[in-house]
Amino acid sequence: MPRRARLALKALVWAACLAPLSWLVYRFATDDLTANPISFVTNTLGDWTLRILLASLTMTPLRIVCGLAWPIALRRLLGLFAFFYVCLHFSVWIVLDFFFDWPRMWEDIVKRPYITLGMLGLLSLLPLALTSTRGWIKRLGARTWTRLHRLAYLAGVLGCLHFLWLAKVGRTDQYWHAATLALLLGVRVVDAGLRFARRRRRAASTVPA
Ligand code: HEM
Repeated sequence: MPRRARLALKALVWAACLAPLSWLVYRFATDDLTANPISFVTNTLGDWTLRILLASLTMTPLRIVCGLAWPIALRRLLGLFAFFYVCLHFSVWIVLDFFFDWPRMWEDIVKRPYITLGMLGLLSLLPLALTSTRGWIKRLGARTWTRLHRLAYLAGVLGCLHFLWLAKVGRTDQYWHAATLALLLGVRVVDAGLRFARRRRRAASTVPA
């Protein structure tokens, strides 16, 4: 893909990922954060964390299924935006829900399973964000780095479970998110199976008679 097109695509991702935050800031400035602003801001940031995380996990299956190379260039950027949104989501919980009351926060993490799952989701994204630089890719080597970054799927699973657990009766979007993740994981598993079979066939055909 030409350099210009890649830059344009990245600019588009930046704009798309910053739009929900700008919309929240706008609603704050116009005093339009609903009757329950803390819940509204927490939920909006949580929704966008999961959407952007799923978008980043869609990039490799897109390459596998459609044979496109450009999605891979966006994977890391989308992953970093998912981390950015989860940090904001977490900060609202720390500052507005608990105002740095660490013992009560710990109690909440241990007591409420959906908070435990959210915390684990955040923790599994942390090493990915820390090692997202070119320096870390070099230091770890491409193979180890790629393996480590499969943790993004774990974060996706934990994020979906967190949402499934907390969603109130009558909602359906939590199931759509989980189904999307299952589909993406399915593509990866089938692809890994096909590659394994191909490798075995190649190895069998090179064994001397
Ligand atoms: C990968 C990590 C995470 C993802 C993907 C995620 C995603 C979400 C989603 C989708 C929602 C529901 C939004 C809605 O109802 O429309 C939500 C709500 C929420 N999340 Fe998270 N979250 C994550 C981590 C965390 C963490 C670390 C905490 C705090 C320790 C947290 C605390 C909450 C709370 C308090 C709610 C609101 C629940 C309610 O309305 O009663 N989340 N999150």
